Amino acid sequence: MPASSTRTSTPPGAPALPTQGEINAEMSRIGGDPGPGAASAMQPRLDYPPYRSSLRRHPSRALVAVDPGVVERSGPVFGDRDVDPLDADLTIAHRGEPIGERIVIAGRVLDSWGRPVPGQLVEVWQANAAGRYVHRRDQHPAPLDPNFTGTGRCLTGPDGSYRFVTIKPGPYPWRNHQNAWRPAHVHFSLFGTRFTERLVTQMYFPGDPLFELDPIFRSITDPAVATRLVARYDHDLTVSEWATGYRWDVVLDGRRVGP
Ligand SMILES: [Fe+2]
Repeated sequence: MPASSTRTSTPPGAPALPTQGEINAEMSRIGGDPGPGAASAMQPRLDYPPYRSSLRRHPSRALVAVDPGVVERSGPVFGDRDVDPLDADLTIAHRGEPIGERIVIAGRVLDSWGRPVPGQLVEVWQANAAGRYVHRRDQHPAPLDPNFTGTGRCLTGPDGSYRFVTIKPGPYPWRNHQNAWRPAHVHFSLFGTRFTERLVTQMYFPGDPLFELDPIFRSITDPAVATRLVARYDHDLTVSEWATGYRWDVVLDGRRVGP
């Protein structure tokens, strides 16, 4: 289907969306600028104009300090018996096998001194192989897979390790601009030792041609830092006749903070 398909055209009366070329030019102008008042170049810019909705969503006032104790008493809790080891296999939640490229994603959660962080709740969610989420607001014309929901979780082991079995998600359109497509990714949440430490991020796959075009990926304006979001193919994780393997470690704090 040509890129100018009417499926992605702007509805009558709605303001025209910028083109990919216009978004590219905006991203080039910003370059490596981490943004006003950036706490760290390690983080995405909160107000990254090429990522349109970040302008409306980002905090515009100083953060409110809260008593961690109050948060602990009122926030969600989980115990190790709540997380079933089978929750880490996203391919077995239904009667049949999901369609797609079966993969293993594994790595370790570490602190900045390289020490493993055990007992961490790691949660993932993702689109299916066709790039479609099981969500009422995702209505783009790609098929849902009756054998794939796209959510999983596990606890890190004593060595900080985690491991998921899933299928490789597809890229999907997201209407930030004309013909906008997200690189394939898996959403990750790492709970931390308390609710206020939760890290939410995304893992990408090596060699994706959409990186340069994606304002979310590029909202981390230091390319060397953004690259840490990209897993690496690991043949030692690949299981013969069954699944290819990707390795991705996450560092929760310190100088090399981030995935
Ligand atoms: Fe996503």
